[in-house]
Order: sequence, then C-alpha cells, then structure tokens
Amino acid sequence: MSAASTSSAVRVSVYAGADDRPILEDAVVAEGGVLSSPTAAEVLVWASNDVRELVPMLHEGIRWVQLYAAGVDAWIREGVIDRDRLWTAAKGVYGKVIGEYCLALMLASAARLPEAARASSWKPLRADTVAGKTIGVVGAGGIGTELIRLLEPLGVRTLALTRSGRVVPRASVSLGPAGLNDLLLESDYVVLCAAATRQSKGLLSRERIALMKPNAYLVNIARGTLVDTDALVDAIAEGRLRGAALDVTDPEPLPDDHPLWRLPNAIVTSHMSGSAPAWRAAFSARLRQNLNLYMKGESLIGIVDIDAGY
Ligand code: GLV
Repeated sequence: MSAASTSSAVRVSVYAGADDRPILEDAVVAEGGVLSSPTAAEVLVWASNDVRELVPMLHEGIRWVQLYAAGVDAWIREGVIDRDRLWTAAKGVYGKVIGEYCLALMLASAARLPEAARASSWKPLRADTVAGKTIGVVGAGGIGTELIRLLEPLGVRTLALTRSGRVVPRASVSLGPAGLNDLLLESDYVVLCAAATRQSKGLLSRERIALMKPNAYLVNIARGTLVDTDALVDAIAEGRLRGAALDVTDPEPLPDDHPLWRLPNAIVTSHMSGSAPAWRAAFSARLRQNLNLYMKGESLIGIVDIDAGY
C-alpha cells in the first residue's frame, strides 16, 4: 500500500510491553499501516497473555485481531475469540525459538543435567546421547518440523505424528493418529508439540504412559493438558520412565508443593520456551506479511478455527 492513500490506510493498535512495542509498531508503519488508539483502530495486534484485558477493546470497528500466541486454547476457552471478526494466531512463528528450546531440553535430559544441577556432592552418573535414538514427535507444525530439522545432524530416527498422517519432510516415519501407540512403544524421547484441542486433551493418559519404554523421556513444550500429570509423576517416581522435561504443566502455574518439583530427573521450566528475544523478529515478520495480505484483501496466515480449537 502506498503512503499516498493515508486517508484509507489501515488503522492499527499495538498492545505490547515496552520492550516489544517498538519493533511491532515499526512493522505496522513499514507496511503502510497507521498507528492508532484502540478505539479508533480496525486492527488490533495483541502481544500479551492478558486474555481478559482484550475483551473491552473489542468494539464493532475491530475487524481483525492478530494474537502473539501460537496456541489459543485459553482464548477460546475464555470465550474471547468470537465469530464476529477475523482472528489470527502466531501459528508457525515460534518454530525456531521453541524448536531449539526443545532440543536443549532433550540434550539436558540425556546429559543428566537435572540431577547434576541439584547435586551437592560428587556423584558420577551415566550420561546418554540423543544421537542414535528414536524420537517420537507428536505434532509436526512449526515447532515439530523445526525440531526434526535440528535433530537431523545427530543421526536419529524420527517418528512424526500429525492429525492428517501427511508425509512430514525429513521425518524417518510419518504417522497419523492411529500410530500414537506405536510411537510410544518405540520412542526413546516422546516430544509433545501438538496444539491443545478437544482431541489432544489427555492424549498421554495413564494407559498411554504405561506404553512408553522404561528408559524413555517425555518432553512437553505444548500444553500441560495433553498429559495426565499424576500418572506421569507416578511413572517417573516408580522408575517406569527415565524422566521428563516440561515447559508446560497442568496445573499451570505449577504450585510450589507439587511433587514434580521434587523429582530429581524432571526439569520444569515456567512456560518460557518462546521467550527468547528472537520471537520479536519472527512475529513482526508475520505481522508484516499478514498486514500486507489484509490490505490486499487476501487470506491471512494463521487464521484461528474456533471449532478445531487452534
Ligand atoms: C505460548 O504458549 C503460545 O502458544 O504462544
């Protein structure tokens, strides 16, 4: 869009923290959008987890909301996402940032870093490698796909499961939902990268956790609700699983007295896998892309499907 058409330029309001706002506002201006107050805006860019704060901003004139979250389960559950306007989530934006975080959790688990970090006396443990292992990746969107790419140089076998069962690039084996039990039976690492939907809730039930190999690790950077937390704690405490690395939990925040904190071979991080500063550049690139498409009247990337739940 040319700067000459300012009178009909798209008015965009950016809601973000002080560190994040400048790059996002620059993106709006670079695409020919006009920064405006929320009341005068037709587009809202919402770079915050404040689900409820958004509701009062949703006047009739808001035609499109770009969320910075990739997973919008909470937003759908709270009834914030409506059918009156277009909503886009940052699907695929966090692939690089969270893919790397996921790899870090896997390597840390293999190197026994959770136990080593807690140790206060000399106690050699038997470390392991990710190389040579079978990795089950549940959900091959932006994050799962990037993780598979990052794992390739390590020489692993990757089993990639998607809802459609489509062929996932670089995966050794591509599976549909019916392949979940096989994935659990074969994987040394089970990595959850799937959206939280009605179908994926409780995906890793007690019965399914029981299928996992005795030496397997669970890595979850998706949502805590995909896993039966009590069953996971039991399996790790009883030595039926080697350990878990969880950036997301159920409940969340995880209470201080929760047994997961006390399991020596569990790493819990506080839903922070997408927080590396590199997310800003990735999100602002998506914002520019979507603004451009919006101005051309074309279909946007990452449109939320309320019925599908993501
Ligand atoms: C964070 O968990 C997100 O879905 O963006």
